[in-house]
Amino acid sequence: MPYLASEQRYQTMTYQRTGQSGLKLPRISLGLWHNFGDNAHFSHSRALLRHAFDRGITHFDLANNYGPPPGSAEENFGRILQQDFHRYRDELIIASKAGYTMWQGPYGDWGSRKYLIASLNQSLRRMKLDYVDIFYHHRPDPDTPLQETMQALDHIVKQGKALYVGLSNYPPDRAAQALTLLREMGTPCLIHQPKFSMLERTPEKGLLALLEQQGVGCIAFSPLAGGILSDRYLNGIPQDSRIASGSRFLSEQALTQDKMAKVRQLNALAEKRGQKLAQMALAWVLHHRQITSVLIGASQTGQIDDAVAVPGHHDFTGEELSAIDHIIG
Ligand SMILES: NC(=O)c1ccc[n+]([C@@H]2O[C@H](COP(=O)([O-])OP(=O)(O)OC[C@H]3O[C@@H](n4cnc5c(N)ncnc54)[C@H](OP(=O)(O)O)[C@@H]3O)[C@@H](O)[C@H]2O)c1
Repeated sequence: MPYLASEQRYQTMTYQRTGQSGLKLPRISLGLWHNFGDNAHFSHSRALLRHAFDRGITHFDLANNYGPPPGSAEENFGRILQQDFHRYRDELIIASKAGYTMWQGPYGDWGSRKYLIASLNQSLRRMKLDYVDIFYHHRPDPDTPLQETMQALDHIVKQGKALYVGLSNYPPDRAAQALTLLREMGTPCLIHQPKFSMLERTPEKGLLALLEQQGVGCIAFSPLAGGILSDRYLNGIPQDSRIASGSRFLSEQALTQDKMAKVRQLNALAEKRGQKLAQMALAWVLHHRQITSVLIGASQTGQIDDAVAVPGHHDFTGEELSAIDHIIG
């Protein structure tokens, strides 16, 4: 059956301006880091994307290395785009990135002009796209001159291969320099993508203030700390969870007694608010006025439903915020 998107898809999601740009992003965005590689069932990945778009999630976030194997998430996404979303291309914001190891040798990693331009060309071929909406430098490169990396981003936009550029994982001092360079080149940075959650609050130490002052948007990745900030691990490790799948990035060791004690207290607070813990965790990130969108991962359509119920219910009382600060410590 050909896919026809829900007629109601724009009725409940809210869209927020990205910094001072003209682009609006959905408050909830979907990342394809997990559950879209060749280790996932294609029909399941496809169902997740359809479910998300039917609920107004117009922004899908990828990177050259998402899989496994690296590149396979973009390939699978490209197939799904062709089969289901071809007619909706102009309703979608598709992002990719380069910055981590992608291919062997000195040109498949970090931040040289050689790597970024070649990598985006590969990503476009895998996704069968003429352009991406947002192209990110995935992590700062301590060795390549920042000027070279930013010039490569500027070149990519001027070539029409990306509409906007972003930075990810840049600390505030490096981000400030990069923002200035990009602005001088006439390609202002659209957005920054840091890790930000109740368990990872580093962006509060300077980055959010910088982005606000510079009119740059912010999309928070891993807002659920990979699933820890949910009811997923309250009673052990479910068979179908990220930890049980043997993820390189989230293992049982992350569930320390101290952390799980905090998660239980946060869960009790969420219950008092009438939310699931995952919903309160997303609400907490969204209540920061600098945040444009939260970038979730999902292995089940119900997790997408939990998330899309959050925008509009992300206010906190002063007491609740203090309680969260107290629990997190
Ligand atoms: N820029 C970067 O360096 C960078 C790094 C990492 C990620 N990212 C981006 O951010 C995206 C999201 O990262 P993430 O997957 O770590 O995000 P996350 O939202 O913190 O974690 C997602 C995982 O949490 C669990 N989950 C989600 N909703 C739930 C719910 N309602 N109840 C219970 N469990 C729930 C699921 O795990 P189960 O599998 O256990 O169900 C899901 O796969 C990535 O796909 C990627 O696009 C970017």
